[in-house]
Amino acid sequence: MQNRRVLSGMRPTGQLHLGNYHGALKNWTELQYQYECYFFIADWHALTTGYEDTARIEEYVWTMAIDWLAAGLNPGVATLFIQSKIPEHAELHLLLSMITPLGWLERVPTYKDQQAQMTDRDLGTYGFLGYPLLQSADILLYRPQYVPVGEDQVAHVEITREIARRFNHIYGRETAFETKVDKAIKSLGSRNGALYRTLRKEYQEKGDADALAKARSLVEANARLTVADRDRLLGYLEGAGISVLPEPEVLLTATPKVPGLDGRKMSKSYGNTIGLREDTDSVVRKLKTMQTDPARVRRTDPGDPDKCPVWDLHKIYSTAETREWVQTGCRSAGIGCLECKTPLIEKVVAEISAISHRAQEFEENPDLVRDIIAQGCERARDVARDTMDVVRQAMSMNYR
Ligand code: TRP
Ligand code: SF4
Repeated sequence: MQNRRVLSGMRPTGQLHLGNYHGALKNWTELQYQYECYFFIADWHALTTGYEDTARIEEYVWTMAIDWLAAGLNPGVATLFIQSKIPEHAELHLLLSMITPLGWLERVPTYKDQQAQMTDRDLGTYGFLGYPLLQSADILLYRPQYVPVGEDQVAHVEITREIARRFNHIYGRETAFETKVDKAIKSLGSRNGALYRTLRKEYQEKGDADALAKARSLVEANARLTVADRDRLLGYLEGAGISVLPEPEVLLTATPKVPGLDGRKMSKSYGNTIGLREDTDSVVRKLKTMQTDPARVRRTDPGDPDKCPVWDLHKIYSTAETREWVQTGCRSAGIGCLECKTPLIEKVVAEISAISHRAQEFEENPDLVRDIIAQGCERARDVARDTMDVVRQAMSMNYR
C-alpha cells in the first residue's frame, strides 16, 4: 500500500442502488487496498437539503453503513466513520467560513442548478449555501492527496483547493521561515538539496509542472525529514509559506453509465432504481420490464443496442462473448429482448443476492456494525484532532 491518503463521503439518503454501487462504492472497495482510505457518512450534509425531516436520518446512516460493509468495504483496511461524530468538521467549517468570500459559494454551479431544480425544497438557507464549504472542511481535515468523486462533485473539490490555497496564503507564514527552509534543504543532503533548488527554480520561473511534481516526490520520498520540515519544503516550492492544508486532487472515478429502468440515469429521485439489497423476484420483474430500444416494437424489428439502456447494463455485467451475441442478435432481430436480458438478469441477481446475503449478517448483528463504525470514528478523530492542532497553531489560536 502506498502511504497516500484518500477521502470521500456519501450522503445517507436511504438504501443504495446499483447506480451508487457502480458509480462509487465499487471503486472505493478497490481503492481501499491501494491507499490509506477514509470514507464517511455525510449526515450533516443530508440536512442541507432536508432539514425538516430528520426522523429517518439515523435509520439511513445504519442502512448505509451496512450497504458499505456488504458491498465489500473492509474496516480492517479502510476507516469508516460518521461525519457528525467528529465535531472537528464543524470547527474547521466555522474557521474556513471566516475566510471564504460569499461570491465563491454563490458561483459554485450546483448552488443555482439545484435551487432551480429542487423547487419543492427550501434551499434558501445559510446551510445550503455553505454545502461546498462544509465539504471542504470534510476534506481538508484529513489532508488527503486524493478525493475520489464523480463528475458532479468536481466543482466542490475545486473550491476546496481554492480555500486551502487561501488559508495557506493567509496563515501559512512562519517566523524565520526562510532560515528553517535552508536548514531543511541541508538535511536533504547536498545532491538532493541542489536538485530541490533547481527544480523549484524551474517551477517558479517557468511554471514547469513536471519540475514541481519531481520536487514534490523528492521531498515526499525522503523518510528522514521531520513532518514540519516536509511541510516547509512543500510549502516553499509553491510560495513562501507552509502548506498547512495541502491541496487535494480529484481522483475522477471512471464510472460506467448506469441506466435506470426507464433509460434515464439511475437515480432515487427518478424512482427508476434497483436496490442493492432488493429481493430476487423484484429484481427479475424490474429487469424484465426494463425499457429497451424504443424503435424495436415487434420481435421481428431489428434493434440498435446503442439506443438501448439494457445494452449499457451489458457493458457493465457481460463478457465480451455475450456482448458480441447481443450485438449480432439485436441488430439482426435474431434474438428477442427478453432473451437478451436473460444472461444479464442472472448476473445482476447473483451480484445483488451476494450483497444481500452479507448485509443480512450485519442486520442480525447491529452491535457489530456499531463497533466497526465506533472504531472508525475513533481513528478518524485522531487525524482530525492533529489537523486542528496544526490549524489552530497556524492561526495563533492554540492558547489554552
Ligand atoms: N457532496 C458529496 C455528494 O453529494 C458528499 C460529500 C460530502 C463528500 N462531503 C464530502 C464527497 C467530502 C467527497 C468528500 O456526493
Ligand atoms: Fe436492447 Fe437487447 Fe432488445 Fe437489443 S435485443 S433492443 S440490446 S434489449
